[in-house]
Amino acid sequence: MPENEEILRRWLKVLNSYGFIKEEANGFTALLKITEHFFETIWSQMEELWNGKLCNKLANEYLLKNIKALSELFSGEINPTHILFPEGKFDYAEALYKDTFIFQYLNTKIAQKIKEFLDATEHIEILELGAGTGATTDNVLPLIKERKNVIYYFSDISYVFLREAQHKYSEFRNIKYMTLNVNNLDLGKKVDIIIANGVLNNAKNIKYTLDKMLEITSEKGKIFIIEQVEESLEMLVSQVFMMKDSSALEEKGGKTFRNTEEWLRLLRDDRIEKIEVFPEKYNIDQRLFILYHK
Ligand SMILES: C[S@@+](CC[C@H](N)C(=O)[O-])C[C@H]1O[C@@H](n2cnc3c(N)ncnc32)[C@H](O)[C@@H]1O
Repeated sequence: MPENEEILRRWLKVLNSYGFIKEEANGFTALLKITEHFFETIWSQMEELWNGKLCNKLANEYLLKNIKALSELFSGEINPTHILFPEGKFDYAEALYKDTFIFQYLNTKIAQKIKEFLDATEHIEILELGAGTGATTDNVLPLIKERKNVIYYFSDISYVFLREAQHKYSEFRNIKYMTLNVNNLDLGKKVDIIIANGVLNNAKNIKYTLDKMLEITSEKGKIFIIEQVEESLEMLVSQVFMMKDSSALEEKGGKTFRNTEEWLRLLRDDRIEKIEVFPEKYNIDQRLFILYHK
């Protein structure tokens, strides 16, 4: 598929940087021969190290399915969303967005910060953008279950996620559902907290989206943003095939993800008192940015 050529170029760059291929005048030469046996040995060693620690086994099962379907993903014969949501099921998506070590840490961090806010404030309204499978929602909703003075707006561009969430969170009374596109955030009201986990990367014009998010956040409100800040190999074999919106790519200088510094440059604004970043150690490719509105 011609639109996947860009992904191929990124692949070549990464393989080159690992020393698996060598660039020559008229192409590339493979420097490492990977047999099926070698791959299986390495893969089971990795599973031993990761499963139950960094992620659950479904996350690696999902990656393996993508690796095995790589040629069809490149040619366009297989739709990557069918691998992520087999028969419409959310099990792989939950394994990736909820059950990994890093997302457990970041979503717990968001819940802790929101609890502090709830303890100090009377009436609050929370808006979650791109809430999807509800990985962050799951951590925050138990905090507000008993509070009549809190409203949680669960939003996503896709109605499919709203329908699933309505079913999953049916016992919660103070949750409202809405389709909302981060490229058109005319909410017509202000909220006290905005959560955007893994969705801002889809914004066609990130400056517009961030400006709108600040505009609809009340004074002393908070914005929680989680973003991937490195092009990981796991992404390159899988979800990169779902992130090909050319206008968004162009705006990011042809990269799938902005790094932490690029995000911080975009996030700094006169309306913000301070920005916190988690985790502070920089060998993990996800970051939580917390923006404190003045
Ligand atoms: C990578 S997932 C984020 C994970 C999600 N927070 C969860 O817990 O499942 C991205 C989510 O953003 C949604 N999305 C994509 N583009 C969007 C847009 N332009 N506006 C709002 N939501 C969008 C997708 O439907 C998906 O649910």
